[in-house]
Amino acid sequence: MNLEYRYLPPEFVPDAVDIHIEGQPGTMLTLLGRPFLLELYRATLYSRWAEGFGVFHNGQLVAQAAMAASSAHFFGEFKRRRLWRVSLPVAAAIFKAPRLLKYIGQSWRYADLTRSPDGECDVIFLGVKREYMRHGIAPELVNYMFGWAHLHGMKSANFMVDKRNRAVRWLVSHKLKGFYLAHEFEAYGRTMLFYKVPIADNLDTAKMPAGEPVVPAYTYTEDENGNPRWI
Ligand SMILES: CC(C)(COP(=O)(O)OP(=O)(O)OC[C@H]1O[C@@H](n2cnc3c(N)ncnc32)[C@H](O)[C@@H]1OP(=O)(O)O)[C@@H](O)C(=O)NCCC(=O)NCCS
Repeated sequence: MNLEYRYLPPEFVPDAVDIHIEGQPGTMLTLLGRPFLLELYRATLYSRWAEGFGVFHNGQLVAQAAMAASSAHFFGEFKRRRLWRVSLPVAAAIFKAPRLLKYIGQSWRYADLTRSPDGECDVIFLGVKREYMRHGIAPELVNYMFGWAHLHGMKSANFMVDKRNRAVRWLVSHKLKGFYLAHEFEAYGRTMLFYKVPIADNLDTAKMPAGEPVVPAYTYTEDENGNPRWI
């Protein structure tokens, strides 16, 4: 299969959202509704704190991933600058599913759940269209995400995984080197596992996505005293 792994172009945001909805039905982000997800995915492309990636087959988006260079900064900025634009549809979604209120409270402190320090990026989502699953596309896409992460000075890529999600657990444990379970917690009514994967251990398979990002993400460095610096 001839596949192309590239930065996600903005015109494919709706297709990326479809893959998210198909891959994660019933989760908090999906229940918040399509307008919310459209705004969130747009933000990953236009924010300097995140990036979006796509896999294309014959010009069609068949898999996608979104990464936050810093969850604390990305979601903070999203709440300040973009959430208000979708406040009406989000309010309607909460009216339909009141349990969302509790989950939103948890997401409001998403960065507290991940506890990823500066220099560690978080996978917001990784998904493959159903008919393209089980062909090794997600593990290969992760190689490109790691190439990007390395370019931006990241030391670790972190995966929040529903404990019942065998496919992602398989991916982390069989395809990625140096991974470890950093913490386990209850969120969104589920048991979540939080894996950390050192970028340095996976550089031999890391690759760079084709194309150009819409807005390049910040790069993490440290000053001579070891203090974080984003450039
Ligand atoms: C998780 C996910 C991204 C994996 O994508 P993928 O490209 O299908 O990943 P893989 O090709 O490595 O396949 C995963 C499974 O298929 C198996 N597999 C891989 N290649 C295969 C092949 N050629 N033939 C048969 N099985 C294969 C793997 O052993 C693994 O099996 P398991 O689920 O029984 O453990 C995909 O299942 C998905 O999109 N899920 C929904 C969204 C989601 O939950 N995302 C994660 C949360 S952010």
